[in-house]
Amino acid sequence: MNSYGSFPGARPRRLRTTPAMRRMVAETRLDPADLILPAFVREGVAEPVPIGAMPGVVQHTRDTLRKAAVEALEAGVSGIMLFGVPEDARKDGLGTAGTDPDGILQVAIRDVRAEVGDELVIMSDLCLDEYTDHGHCGVLDEDGRVDNDATLERYAEMAQVQADAGVHVVGPSGMMDGQVGVVRDALDTIGKEDVSILAYTAKYSSAFYGPFREAVGSSLQGDRKTYQQDPANLRESMRELALDLEEGADMVMVKPAGPYLDVLAEVARTVDVPVAAYQISGEYAMVEAAAEKGWIDRDKAIMETLTGIRRAGAQMILTYWATEVAQKLSAGR
Ligand code: PBG
Repeated sequence: MNSYGSFPGARPRRLRTTPAMRRMVAETRLDPADLILPAFVREGVAEPVPIGAMPGVVQHTRDTLRKAAVEALEAGVSGIMLFGVPEDARKDGLGTAGTDPDGILQVAIRDVRAEVGDELVIMSDLCLDEYTDHGHCGVLDEDGRVDNDATLERYAEMAQVQADAGVHVVGPSGMMDGQVGVVRDALDTIGKEDVSILAYTAKYSSAFYGPFREAVGSSLQGDRKTYQQDPANLRESMRELALDLEEGADMVMVKPAGPYLDVLAEVARTVDVPVAAYQISGEYAMVEAAAEKGWIDRDKAIMETLTGIRRAGAQMILTYWATEVAQKLSAGR
C-alpha cells in the first residue's frame, strides 16, 4: 500500500529536478537592494591603497570613493557604509579627528552626498577606534579603562558632525551602554530628526575582525572584551536588543554574520524593525583566501554565504562583495 505522506509516494527530489523548478521553489532570494557596501576612505593618499588581508578591497582616496559610490548605485546596491582612516599624526587620546567637521569621514560623507544625493543611503560608522591613538572605541579613564559615559559625550558630538555633513544613517558600533539613546538625543537637539540609527545591537568580540584592523590602520593593543559581547552568549543579545529599541534604534544589526546565524534568527523573530547583518572582513578574507588556493569555488561560496545570512533572517546585508554581487544579480547570473 502506498502512502503519499512518506516514501515512495513522497519524493522531495521532484522539486529539485531542473534549474527552473529549483528557482521557482526557492524560499530565499537575493536582490541588489538587500546589499550595503562598507567602504574605507583614507586621508592624504593620491592612489587607492590595497588592503593585503582583503584582496579586492582598498582604502579609497576621496575621488575613488565617489566613483565606488556611483558604481554601487548603478549596480542597484541600497546603501554605503563609510569608514574614515585618518593620517596617523591626527590620532589622539580623544579621537578628535572623529568630531572635526573637516575630518576625513565628514569630508567623505559630503563628497558622497554631493555625488549621489539621496539615491543611495549614506551611512557612517559612529565609533572612535579609527581616530584614537590607543585604538579603543572610546576614551580611557586614568586607569586606562574605557570610560563609558565620557565616551557617550564624544559619540553625541560625532553624531552631530556626521549629520551636519549629510549622512542619512549613523551606525554606532562602539558597544557603549546607552549609546543609541544619547545619539538619538544629540541628533534631535540639532533638528536632525530624520537621520536614522542603525544600531549595532549584537556585536561580538570576534577574531574575524582581523583584516579590518589593517583596513583602518588600527592602533589597538589588546582586545575589546569589556565592551563587545562574548561569543558564548545569546540571551545577552536579546537584552541588548531590548535596550536599543527602547533607546530609539530604527534598525538593528547582528555582527559578525556567518558564525552568529542563530543570533540573527532570534533577533529577526523578535523585532518589528528592519534587521541587518554585517558580513565582516574575516568572513570575506576566508572565502577569498580559500578561493585563491583553489580550494573552493569563489562565486558559489559567496552566494551561499549571503543566501544563508538572508535565510537566517537578515533583510539587509553589509558585505564587501555588495557591488560585485549586485552586478551579477542584475545580469541574472
Ligand atoms: C568599529 C568597527 C569594527 C568593524 C566595524 N566597525 C572593528 C571592531 O569592532 O574591532 C569591523 C568590520 C569588519 O571586520 O569588517 N569601528
